[in-house]
Amino acid sequence: MAELTHWILALFCVLSGLVEAYHFQNEVVEPLLNYNGAKRYHCPATAHKQPANRQNTTLRLKQLRSEMTRVASIQGPPLDGYIVTSDDAHQSDSLDPHDMRREFITGFYGSAGEALITWDKAVFWTDGRYHIQADHQLDCNWILMKRGRPEVPSITEWLKHEFHSQNVRIGADPTLVSAIDWETWEDELANSSIRLVPVRNNLVDLIWQIDRPNYNPHPAYPLPDKYSGKAWQDKVQSIRVEMESYRADALILTALDEIAWLFNIRGYDLPNTPVLRAYAVVTHGSIHLYAPRHKILRSVDEHLKMDFCSHANCVTLHNYTSIWYDLRTMSQAWNLVWLPTRCAYSPGASMEIFNSIPAEKRLPKPSPVLSLRAQKNEIEAEGMRRSHLRDAVMMCEFLAYMEEQYELNSDSWDEMQVARLANEFRYEQDKNKGISFPTIAGYGPHAAIPHYEPNNLTNIKIGKTSTLVVDSGGQYLDGTTDVTRTLHFGTPTEEQKKAYTRVLIGAIQLSSLIFPSSLKSNQLDIVARAPLWNIGYDYLHGTGHGIGHFLSVHESPIGVSYGQPASSDKICGPVELKPGFFLSNEPGYYKEGDFGVRLENILETVEAGKSKTSESFLKFRDVTLVPYEPKLINYDMLNPSHIRWINNYNRRIRDEVGPELKRRLKMDAFNWMLKKTATIPEVKLVDEGLLFGHSNSTPSTCKQFHILVYLISLYYILCNFPDIWS
Ligand SMILES: *[C@@H]1O[C@H](CO)[C@@H](O)[C@H](O)[C@H]1NC(C)=O
Ligand SMILES: *[C@@H]1O[C@H](CO)[C@@H](O)[C@H](O)[C@H]1NC(C)=O
Ligand SMILES: *[C@@H]1O[C@H](CO)[C@@H](O)[C@H](O)[C@H]1NC(C)=O
Ligand SMILES: *[C@@H]1O[C@H](CO)[C@@H](O)[C@H](O)[C@H]1NC(C)=O
Repeated sequence: MAELTHWILALFCVLSGLVEAYHFQNEVVEPLLNYNGAKRYHCPATAHKQPANRQNTTLRLKQLRSEMTRVASIQGPPLDGYIVTSDDAHQSDSLDPHDMRREFITGFYGSAGEALITWDKAVFWTDGRYHIQADHQLDCNWILMKRGRPEVPSITEWLKHEFHSQNVRIGADPTLVSAIDWETWEDELANSSIRLVPVRNNLVDLIWQIDRPNYNPHPAYPLPDKYSGKAWQDKVQSIRVEMESYRADALILTALDEIAWLFNIRGYDLPNTPVLRAYAVVTHGSIHLYAPRHKILRSVDEHLKMDFCSHANCVTLHNYTSIWYDLRTMSQAWNLVWLPTRCAYSPGASMEIFNSIPAEKRLPKPSPVLSLRAQKNEIEAEGMRRSHLRDAVMMCEFLAYMEEQYELNSDSWDEMQVARLANEFRYEQDKNKGISFPTIAGYGPHAAIPHYEPNNLTNIKIGKTSTLVVDSGGQYLDGTTDVTRTLHFGTPTEEQKKAYTRVLIGAIQLSSLIFPSSLKSNQLDIVARAPLWNIGYDYLHGTGHGIGHFLSVHESPIGVSYGQPASSDKICGPVELKPGFFLSNEPGYYKEGDFGVRLENILETVEAGKSKTSESFLKFRDVTLVPYEPKLINYDMLNPSHIRWINNYNRRIRDEVGPELKRRLKMDAFNWMLKKTATIPEVKLVDEGLLFGHSNSTPSTCKQFHILVYLISLYYILCNFPDIWS
């Protein structure tokens, strides 16, 4: 799944800023802030028919504004504005429908963005993934700020421009803003008369009573050690060692995928991530879990040794909401409390969690779970391989079926049908627990939008002239998968083939890299991008992300993105890889309004064997085993080592996926697979030394080539610079 990284967007802002600075040369350079936002699609409302998926937010905004003055709601003077973020109380990547407060108030259903409601304005900020969708979905009450464009003010810049009177109060729910974001806003507003006010009563909750979805009632369950590979008590022990090294008395965990990993429990509390809604507190002498009581059945009780717990290696269960009271009382006995901060895909704990601990006792640092979890143990790694094998079987079945059915009747195929079918094939697999994110199926111009998800209003037919990008993944008891393939149901153009081949070469180059273990994750990015940079093209998302073991599809701390900021005390930056790290490799090419290509495999990091120096070397092994589309490959662009790589990869598919397809009597899929993985004739002279790091002698043609280059260079120098000899 392609994650548009904010780092890269930020980089582009800086670059556009520089270009602008260059244009104005000696003039005072001020950003061209457009406080009125972008020109809106189909606004004002009266002039046009409104897009069908727009909700009328007039009444909701009116109700929210009235809560902004009610003393009962805000316990203080009226608010001048109120911020609604896209977070839940655990800063989760995706939300339960019950927590979609920002969606409720704005009517916009993309995953990211912040809303600000003042007395006479409603403003919404969102990033490049969602500029078009937000313009369609937001009704005309809303000003749209297309974040990432140079002229767009930030939320604090906008506030400072809007308000000039004394004592301006802007409210927000401190449980729904990460501490790091809250403090950044506070710093930016430091010299103004605007104050950020924590409002504990969520104002959206007060007005969102009717038709609000309930949390689902499904209980959590233990993940047996045969899947997790390590008892939770051992994990807690490792966490305590980390805490000891920083002299922390307590660690507060709020991220749901960290709690699920630590206790080897799973649940149903996020749509595509198998977690339990809970908080956890670990001290050297006790462990506390704050979770809704009805979600903890006897099996979890027993698993976590909850009965009569009174020692260091059992878990005490508390009511979910007791965390706020308990933190304030328990922290009196603590000197230093580890509070998670931002790291890659994890925003860290909320401002309210920070506020519950006296400032002098806070140790803000990325969570110790992240680095312990990233290195998957042998059982988890084996589970990842097995789940990817099952996923590969399913992908072969699905792709073979789609190709066959398309030939019979191309009219019945649209994007939603593709997504639906991919999901259904996954649900059929052994140990499947759903999909790991909403399936992306984009044809033609939609394939050029990395984050496109088809819906009723955007759905288009799959034609024969362009590419179809399918990015999907599954949750299995023994692993999480994420795979992207680009398809074509007609005859691809030269341009489409060239783009596909460049993306494929990028993926091959990263997959076959052998590198010292001290290399940082962001540096890997260059290898995959090089074939695209060569033609002056760059894709605006990261090349890779960490992936969980039956957990989040985007898992911190691994990010493969050259724009990622360096580590500091408070945030984590690029990391060094270790054997057992799993990450995605997903270069892409997007021609706006025309077509797109993305190819994504999950890689396992493994040892590369003995090195010539004392430093250890690492390499990758693809765990995704799904054929590429031969007709989209331009073989003239491949060098012998690329061809060798593809042949090896295809052989692995035939050897590993083939027997599984046969065993299940999926002969159509088996034959499809054989057709797609046919061996490409290899040119004899492959330089094995360059390919696999062996020190074979250079083939003689290479030597002759070097001599030729030398002679040409000499000739050139002698003819063009005769005076160097005089
Ligand atoms: C939205 O609803 C309000 C009243 O709730 C109504 O006055 C207004 O005309 C509606 N706007 C549109 C565009 O339908
Ligand atoms: C606020 O003012 C102080 C002192 O005048 C200055 O050092 C600081 O940079 C200012 N902060 C901002 C965000 O403008
Ligand atoms: C937990 O909540 C229930 C009702 O929701 C209440 O009866 C009980 O006393 C609470 N327990 C604690 C320890 O606060
Ligand atoms: C799409 O349309 C179908 C039927 O017309 C409906 O059941 C479904 O809820 C719609 N989905 C969305 C996302 O609007």
